[in-house]
Amino acid sequence: MSTTEDLPFAFYGTIIHSNSIQSLEILEDTLLAVSASNGHILTLQPNTPQDQVDRALTALDIPASRTTRLRRGQFLIPGFVDTHNHAPQWMQRGLGQGMHILDWLSGVTFPNEARFRDPEYARRVYAGLVAGMLRQGVTTASYYGSLHGEATCILADTCLENGQRAFVGKCNMNRNSPDYYRDASTEESLAETERCISHIQTIDPSGSLLKYVITPRFAISCEADLLARLGTIASRNPDLPIQTHFNEAEQEIQATLSLFPAFTNEVDLYSHYGLLKPRTILAHCTIMTDAETQSLAALDCGIAHCPTANMTVGGGFMAAPVRDFLSRGMKVGLGTDSGGGFSSSILDSIRHALIASFSREAASAGREKGLTLEEVFYLATMGGARVMGIDDKIGGFGVGKEFDAVVVDMNTATGGVNAPVEEEDEIRRVFDKFLMTGDDRNMVQVFVRGQKVHSCIVGE
Ligand code: GUN
Ligand code: FE
Repeated sequence: MSTTEDLPFAFYGTIIHSNSIQSLEILEDTLLAVSASNGHILTLQPNTPQDQVDRALTALDIPASRTTRLRRGQFLIPGFVDTHNHAPQWMQRGLGQGMHILDWLSGVTFPNEARFRDPEYARRVYAGLVAGMLRQGVTTASYYGSLHGEATCILADTCLENGQRAFVGKCNMNRNSPDYYRDASTEESLAETERCISHIQTIDPSGSLLKYVITPRFAISCEADLLARLGTIASRNPDLPIQTHFNEAEQEIQATLSLFPAFTNEVDLYSHYGLLKPRTILAHCTIMTDAETQSLAALDCGIAHCPTANMTVGGGFMAAPVRDFLSRGMKVGLGTDSGGGFSSSILDSIRHALIASFSREAASAGREKGLTLEEVFYLATMGGARVMGIDDKIGGFGVGKEFDAVVVDMNTATGGVNAPVEEEDEIRRVFDKFLMTGDDRNMVQVFVRGQKVHSCIVGE
């Protein structure tokens, strides 16, 4: 028997998105309808006069009870995309600030991640993580798990059960960490990888929300034969994305090149092992030579820019050359990096991406222009979708796309401490206030693929 829940639903009001980095679109009086059966956007009609809304809704068979009329101070944005997040580091955020990367990994991170050998612990922490990310408007994340196959399967289960779109990968790491937190061998690392790949194919056969992502932690953690065999898995499975850390910090680059003396840079190293593809997501990319950037651009790899982590953990203070990446047309998204840094908020990443870019502008005497708010919003949404190769589905609004969205409310009733909306504020000012001063209290509803995955509206 069909119920009202099977009927499409709609929003009428202001919608803000950017389909290209040059253009932030603010669509007012917009009617947006979503299919309840597959979560796809059925219609997107900007500038629909108030008095024509009812007729349009009737034509679409949408009852008034399934229509949300957004008020002043409220608007829809695409869900945020976190292109780089370590799921098990949810518990260690904020610890080890100022440490250098290898010391932070051995002193803070490995002892923490080792706890995920316990499936019960993993289940509890991952439930908190996924709920916490969704309430911050992160509808899509590319997650590194711990090295444990079972905990990584639990992470995938948790994303699916809670409706978060995610790439999930077991960390491959068979050297340079203590016995208690290292894959016992290449064989075991690969067997656990295959186990996670088939688990994800079993629980989400159509890939509606989940994908396995091949995840060599970084070359320091992987013996050469492990990297080579992950490259073979990548070439046999062209649908599987790949993620790793790349040119993150001086300490890391020196250690990498001393472990792989045959290579003079990380582009040559990772491409030798077949890991640099258009579907590869490279986190950090802070210290780049011109030749390396040129090669990554030619290889069409995506960059996960993690400004919070880059400025607080890993290598002192680092600011990636994002303006240079963008001027070459490279794919760039934002990553929280979770534990590497202190925040899992993409709003914080947006703000820190601005600050990092201003530091580069100052250091280059104005040659590298700082990023604009429009640009960082694009990176947080469509830019991230492009990095993950799913911009045909998400990242912005359009007929036929999947409805991943956040209802933003800047009114004081949310209890937030955002810069308040004043009577004369145009929508653009309200939007800027949200990006720079809002938080999860202003994200009152979150949708993934048309499913409501978070709500803090009283009574829901
Ligand atoms: N390099 C290898 N592992 C990690 C990690 O967990 N975080 C960061 N920031 N860099 C890494
Ligand atoms: Fe990281």
